[in-house]
Amino acid sequence: MASPRTAARTERVLITGGAGFIGAHLAAELAARGCAVVPVDDLRVAPLQPPPAGLLVKSVLDLARPDLDGITAVYHLASHKSVPESFERPLDYLDNVDSGRHLLRLCEQAGTPRVLVGSTCEVYGNSLALPNTEAAPLAPRSPYASSKVALEMIARNHQQRRGSRVTVVRLFNVYGPGERADALVPALCLRAAQGRGLPVEGTGRQCRDFSYVADTVHKLAGLLHAPPVSTVNLGSGRSRSVLEVAALLREIRPGLELEFRPGRRDEIDEFRADTTVQDGLLGLPPAVTGMREGVRRTYDWWAARLVDVPAARTPLLVKELT
Ligand SMILES: NC(=O)c1ccc[n+]([C@@H]2O[C@H](COP(=O)([O-])OP(=O)(O)OC[C@H]3O[C@@H](n4cnc5c(N)ncnc54)[C@H](O)[C@@H]3O)[C@@H](O)[C@H]2O)c1
Repeated sequence: MASPRTAARTERVLITGGAGFIGAHLAAELAARGCAVVPVDDLRVAPLQPPPAGLLVKSVLDLARPDLDGITAVYHLASHKSVPESFERPLDYLDNVDSGRHLLRLCEQAGTPRVLVGSTCEVYGNSLALPNTEAAPLAPRSPYASSKVALEMIARNHQQRRGSRVTVVRLFNVYGPGERADALVPALCLRAAQGRGLPVEGTGRQCRDFSYVADTVHKLAGLLHAPPVSTVNLGSGRSRSVLEVAALLREIRPGLELEFRPGRRDEIDEFRADTTVQDGLLGLPPAVTGMREGVRRTYDWWAARLVDVPAARTPLLVKELT
């Protein structure tokens, strides 16, 4: 029987959204494990971290059957992924559905042995029962969440036809270096690094299940050789409020004010992953990055990108000067 290292070397893994936040970290993790990685991304979102080596600059819809030749596994992470943006431009989010349908059809034609489809906890909506279990009814509250439900339905159809090869992976909130500041943790880290007030939408009591990106990509990589299941939550199993996250930043930069703003439309009160399936597949993680440590690392990453400019009231992002 092949050892895990030998097995990894024979893997050729295509990652859509490979220049994105999670995709680039996953590409590095899989390469470190000896996999040949083929990242694909059309760069519609400007990356904040260097794109992974060998990036194929292509839209998912432009992938063709030969792009799947020799591919042993696909992680489908390419997506429009902003809840507020999806209310403003809902039709753009149909691309999540079209791209998924196209890619899964190619995988079926190519007989790709393993396909992991990136979904989101947003599909659960405002669940009355917590933690969120994979079997819970889906109740999307935004065009983004609806596009992921549709993607999951397409994946389900492929599962029925192809058995266990396709797995839906419901990611809960992932944070860390390289994520754009339109998500909660990087937004707070950037503001804190600039010495500005910390924006809090609504009461700040809404809770999310946060995971540091290194922990998430470790789990994603682990799924490559885990027994296939139809759906798995990837999360920490613990939720924290926005106010708790802001408090961690006020430990790093004491004295920063909280700036309360109107709540979001259709805001979800809490997401918290039931991790029974995840833990059964992957075992308990040897070490998880604590939230205090993960926020610190993310803050440091943002602080390193800032520069003091005499004419500006707050430090500016390096890229704003170029
Ligand atoms: N970051 C999170 O907290 C989180 C939580 C739940 C689910 N997810 C899911 O994880 C996946 C990755 O998220 P992320 O945070 O890395 O997002 P990201 O926006 O950083 O990365 C997505 C990448 O996909 C690319 N892309 C989008 N549509 C494309 C297409 N049709 N063809 C080619 N490239 C395309 C973008 O250019 C971008 O680089 C997404 O499917 C997202 O829905 C993320």
